[in-house]
Amino acid sequence: MKNYFIASLGIVIFFALACSQQKAITPSSNSSHIANETKVAMERSTTSVSQSKTPESNYATYCASCHGAKMDAFVDRKWKYGSSSEALAKAIKIGYEDDGMPAYDVTFNDQEINELVQYIQKGITNVELYKFDGESTDGIFETEELTIKLDTLASGMDNPWGITFLTDGELLITEQGGKLYKRSVDGSLTEISGIPAVKAGGQGGLMDIEVHPDLENNGWIYIAYAKPNPSNGKESTTAIVRGKLSGNSFVEQEEIFEALPYSTRRHHFGVRMEFDKDGYLYLSVGDRGNREVNPQSLDNHCGKIHRIHDDGSIPADNPFVNMPDAMHSIYTYGNRNPQGVALNPVDGSIWQNEHGPRGGDEINIVKKGANYGWPIISYGINYNGTIFTELTESEGMEQPIMYWLPSIGVCGMTFVDSDKYGPWQNNVLSGSLRFKYLERAVVKNNEIVHRENILENIGRLRVVEVGPDGYIYVGVEEPGYVFKLIPSAKS
Ligand code: HEC
Repeated sequence: MKNYFIASLGIVIFFALACSQQKAITPSSNSSHIANETKVAMERSTTSVSQSKTPESNYATYCASCHGAKMDAFVDRKWKYGSSSEALAKAIKIGYEDDGMPAYDVTFNDQEINELVQYIQKGITNVELYKFDGESTDGIFETEELTIKLDTLASGMDNPWGITFLTDGELLITEQGGKLYKRSVDGSLTEISGIPAVKAGGQGGLMDIEVHPDLENNGWIYIAYAKPNPSNGKESTTAIVRGKLSGNSFVEQEEIFEALPYSTRRHHFGVRMEFDKDGYLYLSVGDRGNREVNPQSLDNHCGKIHRIHDDGSIPADNPFVNMPDAMHSIYTYGNRNPQGVALNPVDGSIWQNEHGPRGGDEINIVKKGANYGWPIISYGINYNGTIFTELTESEGMEQPIMYWLPSIGVCGMTFVDSDKYGPWQNNVLSGSLRFKYLERAVVKNNEIVHRENILENIGRLRVVEVGPDGYIYVGVEEPGYVFKLIPSAKS
């Protein structure tokens, strides 16, 4: 709720500023306009007087150019000089000239400095909300509405990255290092042979797995992975093959997607896959760590969500099919590193979540041809604390439905497309690698109206899916587990 509130507040402030500017340059031709304009001018001058006193506006005016537009992103850091009131006040008042931190003793009086300190400490409290105490040792988690018990389905693997479901209650689980397992109903794990060789390392490896909506009749299974470049082993890219299971082998393989260009970098591969109700396959590819070039340019596949047919061919109504230099599978662009793609059962829309840098993980609705703004607009800052943009909004760029400050390392996404969890039906779930929990969000009219942290300290949560049986399954790593969530009424 809090982050959402921050988001709304930012938007309100933005529009307030935008509107007041627009009104100020409107020419007035009659007296009623003049009256109006005087009123606007008065409002503006009162606002600007009171604005100069609020810590928010002081931060925006004096600090944002170096520490980023969002104080909450700045304070998600290891403090060099401490975060006590005294330490913060000293930093602001006297500065650290050698570090490049200016002194503000002539700009602010003591009261203004104290207010800035309190404002910053509120942001620090917000970061600490995610530092959950303790750990559930019995696998039972109390939530607002339900008691959840974990049923351990698999353990002993490193990083279970993707989970999908066969028709007879069996699970397929990918391990990032490059192994695919089938979990039988009796609990045994069998390795599937014949899957493509992956380039495991960094954030890459064997990644998402998804079955065709008509699996029962056609047997297609889709695997997304970091594919080594056949002509240069140092490079890799995000690729998707589909194939079928014959016993415990993966056969009849066809490559249906290969992201270009290949890169030597080992991060931001994406990649999640999801079919919509019409059978289109959506898949995400991260910016491959080349944010200056990839996400805003349509001549490459990186930093995008793609939409293809189940055989990899390009739908005729994709947004950029008529642009000769564009990659025709592109459906959205300006994405950073989407780690969750999910079908909203209520209206059939596709949603995604993606990693921001330090601050600014997002949930977005995937809209045809839309630009999500990376790296031109962002709620985050660089990992080293410097900034790359002061903009959080811009004309022609989509705003997220929600964003997280601090970044939770969002990963995996699904809607609760079943009635097994009562009031959770149609809620959207996102995992957190960094803070090791699952976040449940209630959606109304495409807005997040309520949020709850569940499964606190369960482990680095990589993947969340709802099975055909209506139950929620999660995969966590270090050490790797796959759990099924068994709900019961609160006692
Ligand atoms: C010209 C760029 C610049 C501006 C403007 C600026 N800072 Fe800084 N600030 C820095 C740098 C550089 C550092 C030290 C390096 C770092 O970021 O860790 C720093 C450090 C700090 C620290 C100490 C951080 C720690 O780790 O202990 C605080 C607190 C701080 N700034 C607050 C502010 C506030 C509040 C404002 C606005 C009133 C502000 N800064 C404006 C550049 C700036």
